[in-house]
Amino acid sequence: MNNRPTVLSGIQPSGRLTLGNYLGAIKNWLPLSATHDCYYMLVDLHAITVRQDPAVLRERCYEFLALYIACGLDPKNNVLFVQSHVAAHARLSWVLNCYTQFGELSRMTQFKDKSAKHVDNINAGLFGYPVLMAADILLYDATHVPVGDDQKQHLELTRDIAQRFNNIYGAPKHEIFVVPEPMIPPVGARIMGLQDPTAKMSKSDDAETNALYLLDPPDTITRKIKRAVTDVGAEVRFDIAEKPGVSNLLSILAATTGESIPALEERFAGSQYGAFKAAVAEAVVECLKPVQARYQELREDRDGLLAVLRDGAERAAVRADATLKRVHEALGFIPE
Ligand code: TRP
Repeated sequence: MNNRPTVLSGIQPSGRLTLGNYLGAIKNWLPLSATHDCYYMLVDLHAITVRQDPAVLRERCYEFLALYIACGLDPKNNVLFVQSHVAAHARLSWVLNCYTQFGELSRMTQFKDKSAKHVDNINAGLFGYPVLMAADILLYDATHVPVGDDQKQHLELTRDIAQRFNNIYGAPKHEIFVVPEPMIPPVGARIMGLQDPTAKMSKSDDAETNALYLLDPPDTITRKIKRAVTDVGAEVRFDIAEKPGVSNLLSILAATTGESIPALEERFAGSQYGAFKAAVAEAVVECLKPVQARYQELREDRDGLLAVLRDGAERAAVRADATLKRVHEALGFIPE
C-alpha cells in the first residue's frame, strides 16, 4: 500500500457546474496534490442509474473535464479519469455486492429519494449505487474523501463494508482495505442559492436563476446577482440567521476577492444593496473570466482532453488493479 495519504472524489456528470462547486469544492482541492495522491473521476457508471441521453452524457463529460482543468486542477499532479475506463470499478462492485446487506441498502436516504422521484425506473443499479461508490473509494486506498452532507451516509456504508471485509479476510498487519475518512474542507466557502439562500447552490437545481453557472456569460451573472433575494433592513452585514441572502453575497464576494468578511462589511457600511450587488457581480465576472477563457481553449482541443483521460485511466488502473488482485486472492480466486 501507499505512504502518502490519498484523496479520491467522484463527480456526477449531471447538471451544470456552479460557482458553488468551484468555491466550495474544486478550489480546496488545488493545494492537496502537494501532500496527497489525488484521484478525481467522472462517474459515468453512476450516471446511468437514471436515464441519460448518450450524446448529452458524452459532451457533459468533456465539459466537466475541461472545466476542472480550467479551474486549476492540473492533470499532471492529479489523476483525472472516467470511471467506465477502469474495469476494476465494476468488478470490485460485484464482489462488494456480496458483502452488503439488502437491509443496509434499503435504508439509504438517497435511494429512497431517487426512487420516489423516478418511480418508473427503480432499477437494481440505483439500489446498488452506494456499493459502486464503495468500490470507487476502496480501490484507491483512499484515506480522505471530500463529500457533501448528502453523501455522508454512503461514506459511512463504505467504512462498514471495508471493515467487514477486513474482519473476514484481513490479518492484523495485512488489511485488505484502507478505511476512509470524510474530508471536511478547512474553511471552504459554503455558497447558497441566490433565490433560496437557506439551501446550497446546486448543479442540478431546477430554477435557472438560483445558481451561478461557471459558463454563464457576464451579463447573465450580473442579472442573476441583481435579482438575488436580499433581506429586510438595508445594512450589509453578515448574519446568517437574520440576513441569509446578504450573508451569502458577502461569502461570494469574500471568496472571489480574497478579502475578509469584516473588511467587506466595513467597506459597504452605509451602502445601498444595489451598489453592493454591483460589486459582487463584478467580482464574480472577474473571477470567472480566466476560467472561461481557459475552458474555451481546452474545449476546442478534444484530442488533448482525450489524451488526459487515457493517461488518467492508465495511472488509475495501476492502483485499482493492485487492489482488485488483493481482493481476488483473499477470496480464493485462481490468480489471472
Ligand atoms: N455519489 C457521489 C455523488 O452523487 C458521487 C461519487 C461516486 C463519489 N463515487 C464517489 C463521491 C466516490 C466520492 C467518492 O455526489
